[in-house]
Amino acid sequence: MLILGIESSCDDTAAAVLKGDSVLASILSSQDAIHSQFGGVVPELASRKHLQSIHPVVMSALAKAGVQLSDIDLIAATQGPGLIGSLLVGFSYAKALSHVKRIPFVGVDHMAGHILSVFLGAEKPAFPYIALIASGGTSSIFLAENSHTFHHLGRTRDDAAGEAFDKVAKLLELGYPGGPVISRTAVDGNPQYVKFPRAWLDENSLDFSFSGLKTAVLNHVNQQKQQNKALRFPDICASFQEAVVDVLVAKTILAARRHQIGTIVIGGGVSANPRLRELFAERCNKEGVAFYAPERDYCTDNAAMIALAGSHKYAVCGASTLDEDVYSRSPLG
Ligand code: KG4
Repeated sequence: MLILGIESSCDDTAAAVLKGDSVLASILSSQDAIHSQFGGVVPELASRKHLQSIHPVVMSALAKAGVQLSDIDLIAATQGPGLIGSLLVGFSYAKALSHVKRIPFVGVDHMAGHILSVFLGAEKPAFPYIALIASGGTSSIFLAENSHTFHHLGRTRDDAAGEAFDKVAKLLELGYPGGPVISRTAVDGNPQYVKFPRAWLDENSLDFSFSGLKTAVLNHVNQQKQQNKALRFPDICASFQEAVVDVLVAKTILAARRHQIGTIVIGGGVSANPRLRELFAERCNKEGVAFYAPERDYCTDNAAMIALAGSHKYAVCGASTLDEDVYSRSPLG
């Protein structure tokens, strides 16, 4: 089965063609250059740019895969969560293609895409597993029972993990998006330089909170400036990063222990973070838990994971109807 995936939930316009779970093409048009000058995504600019990019991006995915639109068996597009104006561009485009070309269409939850993105790689986990999805919009823990049944166990109470990386990079004036630049800067830093707070919340909570950590970094920066001390960027970045990954890893392992599940999977933009992967591998090894991470290209937003999740949803639930609408908050929780 040939699946065309379309993703436009935030600031990347993406299209992919999959044959089963093999990726024939995965194209992404990034808007980072537009939003970097504002230190974050400007929704109105994002949707306008999606309008310009969507058709060329889909056409180049088809061309790269060496297929025609008429060869496609299923069109899958992100239905939510995300920015409504951005979602509407990809979702409406997909519905129009489906209607005109009489190709079945399925609306896909972006979270389901991240939860399943690991299947685009060579090593595939067995269900059930615990999934940590950490990106610019969410830090959530799910229990994935199978490819279409997900239970939301923990969620962000304020800033998502990726959002914390972006906001801290902005206050350190390191650029946008913050995750990649902070993880690069942290390579030469000392993670013990500042003991930034870890928000464990109540003892058994699987929820996350990163807004206090962001304020702690701001306080440190202000103190250093007041004392006319130079900012030690690598050390600050390494200390901040350690505080984030420490909590993400510990709570995900707690979820696996509590539900007696022997496999952990990660996904979302923050799952590209090398220190997060290293700490997961280390602690999962100690716990006797299997650990899987998606290939780097499929951590951040991409359309291949949408095509994949769409094919699973279509197999179980059939096609979506053309009167379905986009949503900003995920029904997955
Ligand atoms: O999944 P994604 O593309 O979706 C959203 O748009 O939310 O994730 C983007 C987020 C950004 O916040 C970015 O700073 C973060 O993922 N990110 C990282 C890394 N690469 C991307 N965070 C930490 N370390 C990284 N290496």
